Amino acid sequence: MISPTIQKALNDQIALEARASFLYLSMSVWCDAQGLEGCCKFMQRQSEEERMHMLKIFHYMSEVDALAITPAIDQVPVEFDSVKSMFEQVYAHEQKVSASIHNLVALSVQERDHNTDNFLQWFVEEQREEEALMRTILDKIKLIGDGPQSLYYIDKEVSAINDQAIKEAAAEKA
Ligand code: FEO
Repeated sequence: MISPTIQKALNDQIALEARASFLYLSMSVWCDAQGLEGCCKFMQRQSEEERMHMLKIFHYMSEVDALAITPAIDQVPVEFDSVKSMFEQVYAHEQKVSASIHNLVALSVQERDHNTDNFLQWFVEEQREEEALMRTILDKIKLIGDGPQSLYYIDKEVSAINDQAIKEAAAEKA
């Protein structure tokens, strides 16, 4: 059994992961409408990953006999100024998620909750990878430029990054 404080913090984390999943799904729809097929697929996959993160916490809470709460999600944005600004928002959201995970780790250490601390280590690594991935995309956009002529190349780069991420995920499972 975990403490009420940890239970509340895990439920807050569930809400953050769920919001990320919905936000990224909305971004994928926006990319689709702009004709950015590679970015659309990338954001769809990111959305699914965030749902998987959320479910991971649900399963853990069930294992430790805690009550996981299915969160209400406020309406996420449906319009974005540019592909660059969209990826900047993704990066900012990932940084927020990382900070929240780090706070949760600190809390579990403080409470000597070794199970939760151990469970969260997977998320610490995942967040480091996700932040690095978003920085790679933003660096590419900086190099290519984000004017109308550049969108085709940005989309191609993001599509290649997405294909690589799919390959790496498959290799991890094998
Ligand atoms: Fe699960 Fe990328 O935060």
